[in-house]
Amino acid sequence: MDSRQTMIVLDFGGQYNQLIARRVREHNVYCELLPYTTPTDKLLAKKPIGIIFTGGPSNTFDENAPKVERALIESGVPVLGICYGCQLIADMTGGVVGQGPREYGRQTLTVESSALFEGVKKQSLCWMSHSNYVEKLPAGFRATASTPTCPVAAMECAERGLYGVQFHPEVMHTEEGEKILRNFLYNVCGAKGDWTMGNFASMTIDALRKKIGNKKVLCALSGGVDSAVAATLVHKACPNLVCVYVDHGLMRKNETEEIVRVFRDEQGMNLIAVDAGERFLSKLAGVTEPEKKRKIIGAEFIKVFEEEAKKIGAVDYLVQGTIYPDVIESGLGASAKIKSHHNVGGLPDVVDFKEIVEPLRDLFKDEVRACGFEIGLPASIVLRQPFPGPGLGIRIIGEVTAEKVKVLQEADYIYREEIAKAGLDKEIWQYFAVLTNVQTVGVMGDERTYDRVCGLRAVTSVDGMTADWARIPYDVLETISSRIVNEVKGINRVAYDITSKPPATIEWE
Ligand code: XMP
Repeated sequence: MDSRQTMIVLDFGGQYNQLIARRVREHNVYCELLPYTTPTDKLLAKKPIGIIFTGGPSNTFDENAPKVERALIESGVPVLGICYGCQLIADMTGGVVGQGPREYGRQTLTVESSALFEGVKKQSLCWMSHSNYVEKLPAGFRATASTPTCPVAAMECAERGLYGVQFHPEVMHTEEGEKILRNFLYNVCGAKGDWTMGNFASMTIDALRKKIGNKKVLCALSGGVDSAVAATLVHKACPNLVCVYVDHGLMRKNETEEIVRVFRDEQGMNLIAVDAGERFLSKLAGVTEPEKKRKIIGAEFIKVFEEEAKKIGAVDYLVQGTIYPDVIESGLGASAKIKSHHNVGGLPDVVDFKEIVEPLRDLFKDEVRACGFEIGLPASIVLRQPFPGPGLGIRIIGEVTAEKVKVLQEADYIYREEIAKAGLDKEIWQYFAVLTNVQTVGVMGDERTYDRVCGLRAVTSVDGMTADWARIPYDVLETISSRIVNEVKGINRVAYDITSKPPATIEWE
């Protein structure tokens, strides 16, 4: 992967920094998000075609303001400073950064001619979020854009390859932001657009083939998109991959069959599917407390996996589906620690292996999905909505029993079917049914019923940290409710959850 062009996004702590990196990648340019404290020689050793200084909460005139070494700005590598990054360039090249005029939100941007603004409308809306600004331009710079309140909304010294924008081109509220970022990448930095998921897949498969060859590899397949794509890449490169899928009996209806069909039958993988449903249910008998259920399911999962791993014996490599946000969160570039809430967390302790391989550690989630399609995985796997490790175990309120699992699977299946039929499956981030332990009175035909309430949850979200309840049209809800009550024995009432997160969580347990 040495020949690909690299951009560096230098992180000064702004809220949109991962977004900038994703935007750059969307223009088919590989980039790395690195902290501003990274030594200049380390940055330049990556031979970047350009560097973007991000925004950040600091003031350049504060005593301990984050800065870079002068050598970086003078290296000849083109730099685009965004917001704080723009002020930093001004500050370090002899300009003056002052307080005000404050601008938050949409502003009208007027641009002059510049390589950065090629094909950009003379006037457009941009997104501002700053309380400092470039008060006096550095020598040799010119202002290339303004807003009614900010005289230097953009500046540049093209000869030195230094560009700054006070607004945020990475957010969608900046109408011409995409074009501006693209202009910097292609007009200023000479990007070739060599970062595509097709390239990534073939280069990764080659690299894995060289690294792993005929050695033995083990992968825990959870059914989730990350482990699926990671395992499939390794499978395409190496003949000695064994995948273990632990079916804890708490998967959604038909899910295990689908996983076996895709990976064993279609992809031709050596897949061991362990049917451990009864084992998990017996451990869960009588347990009602959510965290206790989670712990039991997690511990049992590790146990089952350990037993399988023992049968397989020592392996050379263990595949993990670590992705770039995990790498960033775990301290930027350092070897990614396995997150405690990771579905298969704890596995490295029970597997006898020499090294971990993480084929996706450079990818954002949307890139993982694009890569999944490139290597022939179906939409049912690639576009799978987030599903918690403990599965339906935390969607059955109270004790988990085989009968309740069956009832919930049926209700959830109808819900998913109707959401897809209504074409809402792409816009809703996560949606699922919950089986409550509340029983209510109903009437069916001439009979009185006393059955359970089924809860429906559907949320829109970006990352699951915050979420809003999805506004599903009433007629769709009506169809779902009527089908569930009519078709699923044991449920006689359906309730729709209209709580956001916070204060609620997405899952009910
Ligand atoms: P909450 O309920 O915390 O959920 O708002 C946020 C996201 O995390 C998922 N989730 C889990 N995932 N193990 C997991 O692997 C868990 O124990 C777990 N609990 C919640 C949830 O489905 C949502 O996507």
